[in-house]
Amino acid sequence: MAENESAIQSSLQEHRIFPPPSAFSAKAHVKSMDEYKRMWRESIDQPEEFFGRMAQDLHWFKKWDKVLDWKSPYAKWFVGGKLNVAYNCLDHQIDQGRGDKTAILWESEALDASGKPEVRKITYRALRDDVCRFANGLKKLGVKKGDRITIYMPMVPEAAVAMLACARIGAAHSVIFGGFSSQAISDRVEDAKSNLIITADGGVRRGGDVPLKENVDNALQTTSLVKKVIVLKRTGKPVKWVEGRDIWWSDVIAGQSADCPAEPMDAEDMLYVLYTSGSTGKPKGILHTTAGYLLSCQMTCKYVFDLRDEDLYWCSADIGWVTGHSYVVYGPLAAGTTTLMYEGAPNFPDFSRFWAIIERHKVNVFYTAPTAIRAFMRAGRELVDKHNLSSLRLLGTVGEPINPEAWMWYHQVIGHGKCPIVDTWWQTETGAIMITPLPGATPTKPGTATLPFFGIDAAVVDRTGKELPANQGGLLVIRKPWPSMLRGIFNDPDRYARQYWTDVPGMYFSGDGARRDEDGYFWIMGRVDDVINVSGHRLGTMEIESALVSHEYVAEAAVVGMPHDLKGQGIAAFVTLEAGRQPSENLKKELIAWVGKQIGSLAKPDQIRFTDSLPKTRSGKIMRRLLKELATSGEVKGDTTTLEDFSVLARLKEQDEK
Ligand code: PRX
Repeated sequence: MAENESAIQSSLQEHRIFPPPSAFSAKAHVKSMDEYKRMWRESIDQPEEFFGRMAQDLHWFKKWDKVLDWKSPYAKWFVGGKLNVAYNCLDHQIDQGRGDKTAILWESEALDASGKPEVRKITYRALRDDVCRFANGLKKLGVKKGDRITIYMPMVPEAAVAMLACARIGAAHSVIFGGFSSQAISDRVEDAKSNLIITADGGVRRGGDVPLKENVDNALQTTSLVKKVIVLKRTGKPVKWVEGRDIWWSDVIAGQSADCPAEPMDAEDMLYVLYTSGSTGKPKGILHTTAGYLLSCQMTCKYVFDLRDEDLYWCSADIGWVTGHSYVVYGPLAAGTTTLMYEGAPNFPDFSRFWAIIERHKVNVFYTAPTAIRAFMRAGRELVDKHNLSSLRLLGTVGEPINPEAWMWYHQVIGHGKCPIVDTWWQTETGAIMITPLPGATPTKPGTATLPFFGIDAAVVDRTGKELPANQGGLLVIRKPWPSMLRGIFNDPDRYARQYWTDVPGMYFSGDGARRDEDGYFWIMGRVDDVINVSGHRLGTMEIESALVSHEYVAEAAVVGMPHDLKGQGIAAFVTLEAGRQPSENLKKELIAWVGKQIGSLAKPDQIRFTDSLPKTRSGKIMRRLLKELATSGEVKGDTTTLEDFSVLARLKEQDEK
């Protein structure tokens, strides 16, 4: 755990309260705080009854024998139950009369001469057929239950088809965000031991092409595991072709039947692995399983987004992140909703694109990230005001703390003061939303994710696990198992217990600091470990450091987060060079590009500072806390007693002042 934990303190003073609009509450799934409290209490005191009842909304091939088997820190949910996630998201919806309902509504980034995008509406029945054909094609290529399939795709419906096809036949997917580099692909392929990649010739982003196939080709120069690459034609740009390895998507589905029986999966069978940054140099593969994950996704969609059959719902996340898994694909489909997928960038052709989409399709529920909201604020409200957003009834945010100013803008300018805002706290590891308002019940305050969802026993504690009094900053933990909790770290079973359950003995430690106010509301104060949150995306400082030191000129690097107006946190890198190498502006640029190449553009440092040495403790540990202070305020006021060489700080400050 990071040394800066003791520095947690909260200066946030926010007193505005927004009760849910009564017309909203009247129709909501949970209509009052009393109802929320009653349900939450039952979910904590009698989780087996509560979740056993909730799970009846899902389709089971075989009912479970036991709801929960908990041997801390290992949980099994719905032991003995058999079900299939794709069956639940498709066939089960069709059986309930949603066959002709649009499951996925997709909009292209490119606009035609009259300013119109390409729009595809895929019904639940058509989506099932597409999934079955592709699943049969995968089987023909030899894919079996338990295999790991890598998906590196743009935001097109076929990305969801690929995920659901894996789920249908019991293969686990490992989706890699399209913004990650070749190196990131080969690392993940190796770790997941994946021998098939599904990709596209390219992706469309901000009017340009993302060379997905080329990135895969480059990645496969450093791993020999991959035997087949399925390529969807999206941009039509020429790609290199490796005979015998590469196969077009259209050839995979050619002649395949639209009937593919769903594999009855054990409740605890693996559904997917998703890599995320932690406090070491390499991302870790977070493992999610079948029943509990699906239930939490479906339940949170129903209760947090308060979804109804007539709703058009849009989560703007990319499928490469957990938000895309849970709230673009699995949750909304399992809840029988129409989920909108937008292919491209929020600022193409300008920053009014999201509002044009909402107006065009009459979106009712919109879920996005604070970093996007801040970018829209900066672009100006004129871009919003020329669109009719009256279809909106609920707004959501995720990914990082939302500053009250951005919350108020979202509320007033986008929601016209009538839409509740659900600020949802959760993580890749938690699988689904954990702390959140229920929009018909919870009075909201700008900047807080408010109260725990059903079954979530969240608390703010000290290192011994003792709960802290109101308004005292501490560690955000979860004290009881919940259905969608991660089941482990792929390839590294021991790390799971060590990483999450030992910092605060017997409790899941999230890595976040928080405080609860006098109403019990949780105010998330950000990571207290060596993870930073850039534009709502998690990056390990060690990961960026390893990328930097892999450059031949770099001797040592220390990376810290610093406040950033748009991104929430920016990246500052302190770098010492190998003997004989000279700092220069060109080298800065080269190192920034180097990190982009090693990890992906999102990891590019905002600042590189050359220094002749880094502040260290006597035992040689880099004191990132001091660097963070320096990057944040230009000064170091905190405790420096463990610092080995005081002159280092003076020199760093001098360089800062230059
Ligand atoms: O620091 C918290 C922040 O995002 C981290 C999880 O990142 P990731 O696993 O990439 O998942 C992001 C999407 C679920 C958390 O540890 N975070 C997420 N949501 C919020 C948040 N911080 C404050 N408020 C939130 N609503």
